[in-house]
Amino acid sequence: MTDTPSTGAVVLVGCGRLGSAILEGWLATGTVAPADLIILTPSEKPAAETARERGASVNPPVDALSGARALVLAVKPAKWREALAPLLAALPSGTPIISVMAGVSADDIAVLSERPVTRVMPTTAVAQARGVAALWSADNNARETGRRLFGAIADVVDLDREALMDAATAVAGSAPAFIYAFAQALARAGERQGLSSEAARRLARGALRSAGAGAETGAPLADLVARIASPGGTTRAGLDAMESAGDLDRAAEAAVDAAVEQARAISG
Ligand SMILES: NC(=O)c1ccc[n+]([C@@H]2O[C@H](COP(=O)([O-])OP(=O)(O)OC[C@H]3O[C@@H](n4cnc5c(N)ncnc54)[C@H](OP(=O)(O)O)[C@@H]3O)[C@@H](O)[C@H]2O)c1
Repeated sequence: MTDTPSTGAVVLVGCGRLGSAILEGWLATGTVAPADLIILTPSEKPAAETARERGASVNPPVDALSGARALVLAVKPAKWREALAPLLAALPSGTPIISVMAGVSADDIAVLSERPVTRVMPTTAVAQARGVAALWSADNNARETGRRLFGAIADVVDLDREALMDAATAVAGSAPAFIYAFAQALARAGERQGLSSEAARRLARGALRSAGAGAETGAPLADLVARIASPGGTTRAGLDAMESAGDLDRAAEAAVDAAVEQARAISG
């Protein structure tokens, strides 16, 4: 097996919500030099235009792909075959395909493309280089290419089985929404204790920001909890109430299990 080259073009197919976020993260971190970027997008997108101004190629003739070192597939699952198939004749053999699509198996992509595949499931915070991304590949070089492309814009979490991708999507991709919903529930509880709705919402949002700042330090979550929950204090009382009823784990399990089930249903 030959090493994946670390020079050459990176082709981004699809510049929608996630494709644009990836592009912004790459440009902000210098992960890919603009001159090494080829962006394929049916319609004009602000992120692609910014990249073009800095030297990227947008929708060049397909021959331009002959110098590609990787292709990142960021289209909707229903569109991937029609997006990828016309590019394959020009793409060097062995070029890793990095799919960020939910619910499309690496095998399906490998069968059509006849190239090694890495699956990556990032969050859109890659735009601010603060994403998290689950990554899986059966091919060492393709895995390395995925790590190189996402390592500077996300905390890359390696999975040892592709089947775990759905669980990772629930715990990372969907979880911010679960956490926002919990903050909303806290605000409602604060209102029941007499706070005005505006005060409760601002306090809950501020709490979320503070929790995020704590998480950014990289300290283990248990340590972050322990720093706030002193024995006999108010936070400890609140945590004990949630934990003794078992409601916290039950709610988290229900949310993750339902998200995994839905991911499996969507991918058929
Ligand atoms: N959004 C997220 O947070 C997130 C997180 C993890 C994974 N994902 C995965 O990322 C993928 C994209 O999701 P998204 O939310 O970014 O969807 P999106 O905003 O709809 O973007 C998809 C893009 O693909 C483009 N496209 C369609 N056909 C194409 C073709 N033949 N060649 C090149 N580009 C083509 C579309 O272009 P036009 O706009 O011009 O039609 C569109 O901008 C999905 O598979 C999803 O599962 C998304």
